[in-house]
Amino acid sequence: MTSNLFRLGCVAGLAWATTAVAEPETQAIVDALFKAGGNQPNVRGSGAKGVCVRGSFTPSAEASGLSKAPHFSKDGTGKPLPVTARFSMGGSNPKVSDKAKPVTRGFSMRIGDPSGDMVFVFISAPVFGTKTPQQLLDFATVRAPGPDGKPDADKIKAFAAANPETTRQAAWLNARPVPASYAGVDYWGVHAYTLTDAKGTATVAKLKTVAAAGQLGLSDDEAKAKPDAFYADELKERLAQGPASFDLVAVLGEAGDPTADPTAQWPEADRKSVKLGTLSIAALEPAATCDGATFDPVVDLPAGVAGPADDPMFAIRSPAYAISLSRRTN
Ligand code: HEM
Repeated sequence: MTSNLFRLGCVAGLAWATTAVAEPETQAIVDALFKAGGNQPNVRGSGAKGVCVRGSFTPSAEASGLSKAPHFSKDGTGKPLPVTARFSMGGSNPKVSDKAKPVTRGFSMRIGDPSGDMVFVFISAPVFGTKTPQQLLDFATVRAPGPDGKPDADKIKAFAAANPETTRQAAWLNARPVPASYAGVDYWGVHAYTLTDAKGTATVAKLKTVAAAGQLGLSDDEAKAKPDAFYADELKERLAQGPASFDLVAVLGEAGDPTADPTAQWPEADRKSVKLGTLSIAALEPAATCDGATFDPVVDLPAGVAGPADDPMFAIRSPAYAISLSRRTN
């Protein structure tokens, strides 16, 4: 299993190396992400503000029909698998308000198994903000604060007009209320994954978590009454009453669904969905449990689950997260 993990990572890395000639340096992208959030020390390049939690994952009876990953198998001990997870606010500013809009909330999870970990890093929107690394570099660069501490609104407007697909995520978030809880919103993996079963049958799917609590939104008046940091306390109080659970769901792709563009949404309501299992978040964990490593969604995948080889935004995440880890831990 471990060698498979490494093979996947290396294959993704090679694919990137051969197509990277015209793309910007990963370092430049990470620098731009930090700059957009005010270059704060000792924080992540995105998801700088967050809460570390622990829980468990129990696969559904249908999961092994789609993927041979041991994490989806019911053949083992039948015991739930341990999960370390982190909820977060998008961006590199650790002081961002929990009421901020349009900002994605993040849900990163490490599902443990004796064969190795399975890591997913999801956000509270079905689409990402950019389609290529160059576009992400430009997107972050126009958001760098000027001497007055604010980005240039005209530059942001001009970028959006020239890159209309980059406005889809904000439009989606702006059409919905600010989540009242990290446990009261759905999260998406955004990329198209390939799930492969024990017979070698491959299924292209987008992954998401569906909150058992439903979509808990704040009205404008409720939001005004909240402090800028309330998610951590809300979660602590919620978990004191019992676990917060989410279904992990695979939305199955059909011919023609784009697999290389994370700004493109699939028509989910018209697609078949399969529940892969239940994530149960039980308690808060010290931040240190989540801070010593990255949630690397590229390398930490078992055989039976693969990211898209043709989506340039996927493979680059691994080196970008490593650069950010080294910056925040040195
Ligand atoms: C080229 C594409 C991307 C780049 C360069 C990038 C960059 C980063 C960086 C530098 C970090 C901090 C890592 C760390 O210090 O541990 C991070 C974290 C994060 N990213 Fe990305 N990202 C990309 C794509 C995405 C996508 C597509 C999603 C949504 C599915 C996403 C969601 C997140 C989340 C939720 C975190 C917080 C992780 C945590 O809690 O530790 N990112 N990203």
